Amino acid sequence: MLPTHALAALAPAAAVLLLARTAGADSTGTTTRYWDCCKPSCAWPGKASLAEGPVRTCNKNDQPLSDGGATKSGCQSGGGAYMCSSQSPWAVNDTVAYGYAAVRIAGSSESQWCCACYALTFTSGPVQGKTLVVQATNTGGDLGSNHFDLAIPGGGVGEFNACTQQYGAPPNGWGDRYGGVHTAADCASFPAALKPGCEWRFGWFAGADNPSVTFHEVSCPSELTAKTGCRRN
Ligand SMILES: *[C@@H]1O[C@H](CO)[C@@H](O)[C@H](O)[C@H]1NC(C)=O
Repeated sequence: MLPTHALAALAPAAAVLLLARTAGADSTGTTTRYWDCCKPSCAWPGKASLAEGPVRTCNKNDQPLSDGGATKSGCQSGGGAYMCSSQSPWAVNDTVAYGYAAVRIAGSSESQWCCACYALTFTSGPVQGKTLVVQATNTGGDLGSNHFDLAIPGGGVGEFNACTQQYGAPPNGWGDRYGGVHTAADCASFPAALKPGCEWRFGWFAGADNPSVTFHEVSCPSELTAKTGCRRN
C-alpha cells in the first residue's frame, strides 16, 4: 500500500494526459527501438475490426499506397510496401510525445492491439516521468510480453532491413543493426523525411536506452490515426 503522499506525487504524471482510458489499471512493460522500413504487420488486411484501415504504407519514394493493404512488404522478395516516414515519433510538449510501436501484450493478440493506442509512462532513464502515446502498427514475433518496440528512425533495423532498398542505407542499416545510431550528429546524413524522427531520440527522448514503462490503453488521439489512416471500431 502506498502512503498518501506517494500517490499525490504520482498524480501529476497521471494528469498529463486527458485521453480517455479504455481499460483498467496500469501494467508494467519494457521498450526497445527499431526502424526497419518494412511494411508493418497491422498494414495487412483483416488483422482487427477497423472503422478505417489497415495501417497506411508507402512506396519506395515514401508516397502513400492506396492498396487496401495488398502490396507485399519491401522486406519480402518483389515487395514494394514500406513504412511511411510520417509514422515517426514527435514531441507534443516537454512531457508528452506521440509515436508508433510494434507491440506484444501478455494474454492479447493482434486482433486486440492492431491500431489500438497506449499511453506509456517511462519509469527509468533520462525520460522517467514523461509519457509517449503510441499507436500499435506492428507486431513483434520476437518480442517479450508487454513489450513495445518503438518505431524510431535510426533505431536499428533488427532482423529485417528494407532501408537499404528504400533509402540506400548501409547493409545493416544506419549505425548498429540492433540499436542503430549513437548520437544526434549521426542523424545529420539521414534522408530528410527521417531526420526529425532520428533527432527526436536525442531531444525529447534524451537518448534513453530501452527505458521501462507503465502503460494503459487509451482512446487514440486523432493526430496519430490521421497519419496511419487506421482506426478501430
Ligand atoms: C502536453 O500535451 C498534452 C497532450 O495534448 C496535454 O494533455 C498536456 O496538458 C500538455 N502539457 C503541458 C505541460 O503543456
